[in-house]
Amino acid sequence: MLRHTSVFAAASLALAGTMLSFQPAPAQAEPTIAVKDVVLTVGSKSSQRNLTWLGGVGVEDYVQLVQHKKGKTLSWTSAKLIRPFSAGAAGEETGWEYNKVALTKLKVGVTYSYRICTATACADEHQFKTAKAGNFSFLVYGDPQVYLGTKTGQNGVVENPSAGWAATLSESVGKVSNAAFLMTAGDNVDSYTISKQPGEWDAFLAPSQVSTYPMAPAVGNHDNASNGGYLFNQHFALPNVSNLGTTAAGTGDYWYTYNGVLFMTLNTNSLDFAAHTTFMKQAIKANPRATWRVVTLHHAPFSSADHPNDADVTAIRTTLTPAFSALKVNLVIGGHDHDYTRSYLMNGASIASADADGALKPKRGQVLYLATNSASGGKFYDLTGPYPWAAVKDQSLKANYTAIEVKAKNLIATTYEVGGRVIDRVDLTRAH
Ligand SMILES: [Fe+2]
Repeated sequence: MLRHTSVFAAASLALAGTMLSFQPAPAQAEPTIAVKDVVLTVGSKSSQRNLTWLGGVGVEDYVQLVQHKKGKTLSWTSAKLIRPFSAGAAGEETGWEYNKVALTKLKVGVTYSYRICTATACADEHQFKTAKAGNFSFLVYGDPQVYLGTKTGQNGVVENPSAGWAATLSESVGKVSNAAFLMTAGDNVDSYTISKQPGEWDAFLAPSQVSTYPMAPAVGNHDNASNGGYLFNQHFALPNVSNLGTTAAGTGDYWYTYNGVLFMTLNTNSLDFAAHTTFMKQAIKANPRATWRVVTLHHAPFSSADHPNDADVTAIRTTLTPAFSALKVNLVIGGHDHDYTRSYLMNGASIASADADGALKPKRGQVLYLATNSASGGKFYDLTGPYPWAAVKDQSLKANYTAIEVKAKNLIATTYEVGGRVIDRVDLTRAH
């Protein structure tokens, strides 16, 4: 996709030690810059963001970043210029190179504008806001699993996940406009055949919200593309990526903090539970004063539809959930099963409390698990069971999303059906 862009004013800019000369383009030239798949991701902490995009082969792209100031007109001449910390050939994307940039030392409570530039032109402007310290909310999306076109699914539902994903983002961000970030629980795209994935990634990253709100994606089995799925890694610049939990998808476990909360995202395409546990211990050691510990993984250990008895899910339920309890994780967010399930408070794989109402007071080692339904309407599985761990289960055959409010003593998760009702609301209150 080529985007029309503004023409640079004639200028010479010193950039990372390199003097680049910019010449004004002829008035009729309409310079363009090849840019697509522009996606912000979380940085290591709330004052950071990372940015990834695909640009032209052999073109030295960079980012201009400028802070909005009250009562002043935005001026790109004062923009900070940031070069990619990583760039290279975009696998399966002929004619494109990926670029990754870190946006650091951001101020709190500020709006920034950024745009991607080459030596001759700049692409469209995007904006993002940084939050002040304290309470915040984030949005969670299960299995967008975006593919192109439509299908009639197993429940007779006409699936159009590209359009559904865009609609869910639009509604959810309309409801939680100050969302700190957009978390996915994996299976961002659908095809196991990697040659089909570029178009799916283009559709997944087409909605404007992904250039405005940082994403915090998990990697799923579909992203893995029959063990060749390196496009996930290519499309996201993630913070604190570990070698632990790495699979052929190329991305290990990673962690980030936001206003004092520790988020750990596990690549459960790897069933090396010792590695995941070591990763979590390292992340916790690096953030000993985190107020809450939240884990995201693709393969929800406690769900209610097609996958609870799969070998990989059973192994995660049996072997990894005791580590979550031992490490005093508060909340685990998963996907994979395309239904909504809220567990009872669990200690390892055992039910720790039979309390199924929406106000929970977990004791030490008690963990709440959410299995999220499809955020795009791309696939739904019928409920099966009953399963002993399910306090609340739902199959609406409609796209879902979850908004999570984070306060000093409460984690409140509200799950919505797009265009419809509240499916569930649960409030984790801690005693201290
Ligand atoms: Fe999956």
